[in-house]
Parts: sequence; structure tokens; C-alpha cells
Amino acid sequence: MSQHAEPTATGGGRAPSLKVTRRAAIQAAASAMAFARATPSSAQQAAAPAATIEEKITIRLVVNGQARTLSIDPRQSILDVLRETLDLTGTKKGCNAGACGACTILLNGQRINSCLALAVMHDGAEITTIEGLAKGDDLHPLQQAFIDREGFQCGYCTPGQIMSGVACISEGHTGSPDEIKAWMSGNICRCGAYAGIVEAISEVAKEG
Ligand code: FES
Ligand code: FES
Repeated sequence: MSQHAEPTATGGGRAPSLKVTRRAAIQAAASAMAFARATPSSAQQAAAPAATIEEKITIRLVVNGQARTLSIDPRQSILDVLRETLDLTGTKKGCNAGACGACTILLNGQRINSCLALAVMHDGAEITTIEGLAKGDDLHPLQQAFIDREGFQCGYCTPGQIMSGVACISEGHTGSPDEIKAWMSGNICRCGAYAGIVEAISEVAKEG
């Protein structure tokens, strides 16, 4: 071996097939830099001007019994219209992807995940949110039952659980605790308050 063999990246140089010379390493780095210059980085892509939608769309909704005429961005979900345009923040944003049920509302009497519904697709719809359940100071029976049965801990999932529970009862899916669990399975509670939730729904369903 020559006394002046070039240093290798591995230091020892015992395995010729793995030997990386200083010159090769510099050439590889230069090639990588040239490639990086030719290819927009994610930061550059993020800095590029995004396509904008200037046009607002006017829609009409009946929210908790009140007629509303709204000028909205056509990309807004019903959840975002409720929270950001109408300031009805009782409906919660969890996953924003249809997986947790925190955003459950009633749309024309049916429960939906409002994060998945574009508001422009529902012009003229009737919406009920958690703010629309109580009658003045009188809580909806299911709201009261959640308190009595300790159907929550942190409360973040609770508006969605209650809206889904109201629908579960009106749909008649309350024949047994297992049936309630199955039909409430789209509503996740990270605090694990499921026992109280099922008891509350079962109790209100029995009261008719
Ligand atoms: Fe809509 Fe999770 S926020 S399902
Ligand atoms: Fe905390 Fe359900 S009460 S997530």
C-alpha cells in the first residue's frame, strides 16, 4: 500500500469496495447541490404564490332556528363557517378529517361530521349545533344526563358526543348498551368516558 494513499471516509480503508475518496465525496456533494438548485425545495414551493380564490359565495342557512345569509369562501367547511364566520365555537375541531366525531352536528336532522362538508354544497340547509339544544336555561335532557352520569372529563369531545347521541336516540339505535356503543363508535373520547356516555344515552332513550 502506498504511504500516500488518500484518506477515506471510513478511515481504515481495508475494504476497497467501500472506499470513498475525498475527491469523490466533493464531487458527490457538488452534484447534490446542482440537483438541489435545479429542483425547487419545499421551502421554495411554500414561498411560491398560492392559487387564490377571491370570489365569495352567498349561501343561506338556518342555524339553530335562525335564518342566516352568509358570504363565504367556497373552500370553507360547515365546521369552519360555524366556528369562524358565525362564532359558534361549541362545535369542536378535533382531527378535521372525519375520524373523531368532535365536529358532529345535525344537518337537516341527520348527524354529520361538519369538517367534511363544504358549506357551499348545503345552501338552504337547516343546522343544529350544541348551542341550539337548550331551551333558555333548560338543558336538553341528554345534556343533563351527561352531567348526571358523568359522561365527560375534559369535555372536548362532549358537544359532538351529545349531538351524535341525540341522533342515535331519534334513529332508534338504543336497544342495548352494545347497540349504542356500535352507533356511537364514530365519536372518540380520549378521556375514556364511554361508560357514562352510554348510560346517559340509554337513560334518555328509555324516558322517551
Ligand atoms: Fe370532524 Fe374529527 S373534527 S371528525
Ligand atoms: Fe375528554 Fe371526551 S371528555 S375527550
